[in-house]
Amino acid sequence: MSTPIVIDCDPGHDDAIAILLALASPEVELRGIVTVAGNQTVDKTTRNALKVLELAGRADIPVVSGADAPLRRPLRTAPHVHGESGLDGPDLPEPSTEPSRDDPAEWLEPGVVLVPTGPLTNVARLVERGVAIERIVWMGGAIGEGNITPAAEFNAFVDPEAAAIVFGSGVPITMIGLDVTHKALFTREHADRLRGRGSAGRVVAELSDFFQVFHERRYGFDGSPIHDAMAVAHVIDPTLVTTVHCNVGIETSSRLCDGRTVVDRWLVTGGPRNAHVGVDVDAPRFLELLIERIATLP
Ligand code: BDR
Ligand code: CA
Repeated sequence: MSTPIVIDCDPGHDDAIAILLALASPEVELRGIVTVAGNQTVDKTTRNALKVLELAGRADIPVVSGADAPLRRPLRTAPHVHGESGLDGPDLPEPSTEPSRDDPAEWLEPGVVLVPTGPLTNVARLVERGVAIERIVWMGGAIGEGNITPAAEFNAFVDPEAAAIVFGSGVPITMIGLDVTHKALFTREHADRLRGRGSAGRVVAELSDFFQVFHERRYGFDGSPIHDAMAVAHVIDPTLVTTVHCNVGIETSSRLCDGRTVVDRWLVTGGPRNAHVGVDVDAPRFLELLIERIATLP
C-alpha cells in the first residue's frame, strides 16, 4: 500500500532531492507540491519545483505557489547555501507547465501525510483555516545546535510564528531536525555512484557537488546532509529514524533564540507530548535507500 503525500517545500538542493526520492519510491504517492518562500523567494522556489518535476518526467503533478513571506516577519533567504536561483549547480530543463490554481487543502484527504521541508508558513495558514491535517512529517528544528543562528535551524527561524501555530495545533507531527540529518552525510563517493545513472542521477550528483561546498566550509564535513530527503525517507520507511514522543515549544520573542525548537525530551515542563522528535538515524541505510532509488529514475 502506498501512502499519499503532499510536499510543502522551498527548493532548495535537498528539497529537490526529497521530491526525486518520493517520485522514485513506490511506498509513497506524491499528490502535489506546494511551494513557500524560504531558501529563495517563492517565484524561484516554484520555478525550481516545476523544473524538478520536468526533469523526472512528472510535470503531471500539480505545483501550487504558496506564501511569499513569513506570517509576521521579513523573509530571510539562504543564497549562501543554495545560490541565487535557490538551485544553483546543475542545468535543469525549463518547465513546460505553469503553477496550478488548486487549493492544496483539497489534496489533504484522510490518509494523506503532509511533508513540509521548508518554513511552516503555508501549513500554519491551513491550520488557521481549520483544514483537517492527519499527520505532518517536517524537516526542521533541532534539539541541539542551530544552523542559521547558534540557536535555530533555518526552517524554524524563517517563520517561528508559523512553527508555533503548527506545533500548538494538535496535529500529530514528526520533527526531523539537524540532530539526525547531520548524522547522514552524502559524500563525493555517493555522488559518483549516481553521476552516470541517467539525468536524475547526474542532477543529484551535481546538486550535491554545489551543496557540499557550504558544508565543507562551515562544518568541515566530508559530505552534505540531505536534510529534506530524510523526512520523505521517514514516511517510506519509519524504521530509519528513531523518535521520542515529547513536548516541543517554539521561541518567538527572544533576541538570541528566535526560532529555537525547545525540545523537552525528559518532560520536565509537564507540557503535552506534541511531537515525535528524531534522535537517531540508521545513516548507512538511509543513504543506500536514497542512492538506490534515485538510480532507478530515468
Ligand atoms: C533546511 O534549511 C534549508 O536550507 C534546507 O532546504 C532544509 O530544509 C535545513 O536547515
Ligand atoms: Ca528545504
